[in-house]
Amino acid sequence: MRGFFADEREAQDTVETLNVDLGERSYPIFIGPGLLKETDRLRSHLGQGQAVIISNDTVAPLYLDQVKQTLGDSYGWEIILPDGETHKNLGTISQIYDRLLRAKADRQTTLVALGGGVIGDITGFAAATYQRGINFIQIPTTLLAQVDSSVGGKTGVNHPLGKNMIGAFYQPRCVLIDTEVLLTLPEREIKAGLAEVIKYGLINQPDFLSWLTNNAADILALDNAKLTETIRICCQAKADIVAADEREVGLRALLNLGHTFGHAIETASGYGNLLHGETIAMGMVMAADLSRRLDLLSAEQAAKVRDILENDFSMPVIPPAQISTETYLELMSSDKKAEQGRIRFILLEAPGKAVLTGEVPPDLLKETLTAGDGLCR
Ligand code: NAD
Ligand code: GLY
Repeated sequence: MRGFFADEREAQDTVETLNVDLGERSYPIFIGPGLLKETDRLRSHLGQGQAVIISNDTVAPLYLDQVKQTLGDSYGWEIILPDGETHKNLGTISQIYDRLLRAKADRQTTLVALGGGVIGDITGFAAATYQRGINFIQIPTTLLAQVDSSVGGKTGVNHPLGKNMIGAFYQPRCVLIDTEVLLTLPEREIKAGLAEVIKYGLINQPDFLSWLTNNAADILALDNAKLTETIRICCQAKADIVAADEREVGLRALLNLGHTFGHAIETASGYGNLLHGETIAMGMVMAADLSRRLDLLSAEQAAKVRDILENDFSMPVIPPAQISTETYLELMSSDKKAEQGRIRFILLEAPGKAVLTGEVPPDLLKETLTAGDGLCR
């Protein structure tokens, strides 16, 4: 196996354990190769009842049997959803409730999310709301889910009028990150995950950002040690921010760098056409561009942000030209950070220092929305 430890004994020696410190709702994040096979780690975080695995028709053929085997007697049954962001909606949640109710799943049931951010967000929301809340465990299988969405308890689904508009803060019992599952993840998805990785560097970790750019080739080649270190740093950053501001009253908003633009692009393009991480890469370049127009960033710093995403990590950074300014403004005005109709943005004062602002002159915003390939140039 390219770059990964195949031997389970060696794997157990390399497991990193982090903690999300939230009082009685605290939980561990385990990171390492081969964790899907580790029985005790998974079973010790189940409730008294059966474990119901929720996955999709891409991930289940790859990893469902292994997770069933690891759960052993605790395994109950599974719900396999169709793959894709287009299924992250209330219709799917309703189908999950139907299945749980027909099977008479009780409050001791644990839902196990086996998949990327879509499965994690759906499963978490079903767990938050079924019988007013049952246990759930995150087993994230994309890089994006491993570095971001599985940690921190944001759960929910999309609405035709807005991304992630229906949801709940609800924390898992543990997050089990098996780095080996990334070997089956398509390269485009790896890059989409790296957009959220770069986000952590841009918001408050300039040294991590430099390390990422210096190690871009190894990370893109899935070098085990560098990828594990990347995941560990991101999970630690997220755990720290969530422990300080679980419900996004302040600091946590910085994790939305690029998301005000990105969510608008994702909704306007039709869910599933662009990957979430791709729209975040575009959104971060738009945020850097707007920061430059506001004289928060120098032209060189803004160009550097685009260069890291576009050249070091080969990500798409120019949003689709057909999204009109009116569409952006309409979608962004219902962003969850908006207050009394005023759109608030996460902007950059440096690559490695993000700030929340609501003071953006409309003419400068329109210049960013129409800049196209001129972004950050
Ligand atoms: P995804 O869940 O759609 O997964 C991407 C694709 O990879 C899918 O086709 C999936 O089936 C496939 N896949 C997953 N694991 C695989 C594996 N190991 N091998 C092969 N294929 C695999 O997308 P994503 O990028 O993981 O997550 C995006 C979602 O996460 C969005 O809905 C976004 O809103 C959400 N999100 C949530 C948070 C949060 O804090 N809750 C944070 C960031 C993003
Ligand atoms: N992904 C943004 C957050 O969890 O707050």
